[in-house]
Amino acid sequence: MAVTDADPKARPKKAKFTGTTLTTPTTRGVDHLALVTDDMAETMEFYTEVMGMQLLHVRRVPYAPDRGQPPYDDLRHYFFGMGNDSLLAFFEYPKGLDRSDRDLPGGMQHLAFHVPPDKLDGMVEHVKSHGIDVVGPVSLGGRFWSAYFYDNNGIRLELATSLAGNDISNVESVLQTEEEAREELETLFDDGEDVERWLKAMPLVDEPLA
Ligand SMILES: [Fe+2]
Repeated sequence: MAVTDADPKARPKKAKFTGTTLTTPTTRGVDHLALVTDDMAETMEFYTEVMGMQLLHVRRVPYAPDRGQPPYDDLRHYFFGMGNDSLLAFFEYPKGLDRSDRDLPGGMQHLAFHVPPDKLDGMVEHVKSHGIDVVGPVSLGGRFWSAYFYDNNGIRLELATSLAGNDISNVESVLQTEEEAREELETLFDDGEDVERWLKAMPLVDEPLA
């Protein structure tokens, strides 16, 4: 495939939603999420000891500006298993750079890991046992509970669960009734047709999940 110069500020063209949704996405979860550290050894310690992940792959990457790679040559790029066939990756940038702002558009506000409901309290205690301040678990309304803290890089992390149960998938646990979804979508669109089109494309449930 031909490589073209990538404009980091380029946004994909906005397409009008047609109401067609694939029930089975072509994508299968997160392949890898690539974050930035300036201390790989510390990050390795945090994600293995505190988060209980495994270091899976360690490599260096060349400077390849034509595909938007990091603007440094020969960078460390290490991968951890974050469960359920998904990878968490870090690049090690030089020390002394400004910190990114998670509260700007395009930034990553936080990273939430799903934890089964019967494992949440134990995981929170485990994180706390490393001297890390944890907020929560707090109720986010209904069946959703989360706990929040920061990793060694200042990245905001969340442990999220749904009391809907251990046997229900993460995706199923967020499904809403038509009434619940309609109430929110009506705040987004002035045109009722837009609301109906999106409602038709959502996998709604008849009864609210407990
Ligand atoms: Fe969240």
